[in-house]
Amino acid sequence: MKKIEIAAYGAPEQVARCVEAEDPGAPGPGELVFDVLAFPINPADLSFIRGTYRLQPELPATPGAECVGRVRETGAGVEHVRPGDLVINMQRENWAQARRIRAADAIPVPAGLDLLQAAMLRINPATAQLLLEDHVDLAPGDWVIQDVANSAVGRHLIVLARERGVRTLNVVRRDDVAGELTALGADVVVQDGPDLAARARAATGGAPIRLGIDAISGEACRRIGDCLGDGGVLVNYGGLSGEDPAVSRNAINVRGVTLTGFNLGRGLARRSAEAVRALYAGLALKLRDGILSAPVDSTFPIDDIAAALTRAQARGRHGKVLVLPNGPL
Ligand SMILES: NC(=O)c1ccc[n+]([C@@H]2O[C@H](COP(=O)([O-])OP(=O)(O)OC[C@H]3O[C@@H](n4cnc5c(N)ncnc54)[C@H](OP(=O)(O)O)[C@@H]3O)[C@@H](O)[C@H]2O)c1
Repeated sequence: MKKIEIAAYGAPEQVARCVEAEDPGAPGPGELVFDVLAFPINPADLSFIRGTYRLQPELPATPGAECVGRVRETGAGVEHVRPGDLVINMQRENWAQARRIRAADAIPVPAGLDLLQAAMLRINPATAQLLLEDHVDLAPGDWVIQDVANSAVGRHLIVLARERGVRTLNVVRRDDVAGELTALGADVVVQDGPDLAARARAATGGAPIRLGIDAISGEACRRIGDCLGDGGVLVNYGGLSGEDPAVSRNAINVRGVTLTGFNLGRGLARRSAEAVRALYAGLALKLRDGILSAPVDSTFPIDDIAAALTRAQARGRHGKVLVLPNGPL
């Protein structure tokens, strides 16, 4: 079988190679083997390959935080999935044609769910939901501000906030996406800039913004913090600028804003296995019904990993780049 391997950390399109590897073989007790049908290229995967992610395993290593697959075979004692079922894998190293994993790490995916959306179920929809749930007890009518609003997380967050009656102020870096985000349910879409706080105040009519969500870090994080009202919570969950999050003294000293961070693994670890299953079951139904959806820019065969990685890093792309390791779906 084929898998993606990096032998050195560096520019993703240069260091990621499609190599021949041993087939995973037959599943042992409590294990299953699945064929990988699709995997997305996420910012965290790019950061993993560059060697700037929090996990830096010994090399060679295989990237891949998420995927969707079809179960080929189950080992003794595996009850909750059967051969032929679609699953997502809660563990990593998914950029391969097939995987052998602990069956406990496989979450079944309902029939009728678009496979590309299923491949993107594990990380971004859950991140958007937990960002809304885990930091501020939001009530209908409350305001939330987020940057990177055109990302998959940002788009899911707009929809999930709207379902709760929570209003969103969405910060983007280009103006051609405002119409689409408004159609999803965004209350306000603004371009980032030094006067963001003044424009945010004008947009909410002076209503306090209780939760600020930042995935850029650095000065962008400071600008989000400066938009928050008294006692607001500023949550950093990404570092697209490559910097550490900044916050102004005015925000923390005068308005009592707190800065905290979010990580999906930590958010899930706080929940029972039953709650995690329920979270994914609910999100999978929303994806199946088209309530949640992440745009897809393009798909590539596994042999074209360098081209896929180049496209995934291109500015102006419209949605996710995915790889189909076993051919067209
Ligand atoms: N902490 C966690 O557990 C967790 C979980 C999931 C995701 N994340 C983070 O969430 C963020 C979004 O992930 P995603 O998969 O939803 O993203 P995505 O769909 O791949 O989209 C990337 C977005 O980032 C924007 N962007 C890229 N570089 C930027 C920069 N330097 N300044 C401003 N905007 C920039 C792009 O803007 P354009 O639309 O203008 O191109 C695009 O909207 C990433 O930082 C990711 O690492 C964190």
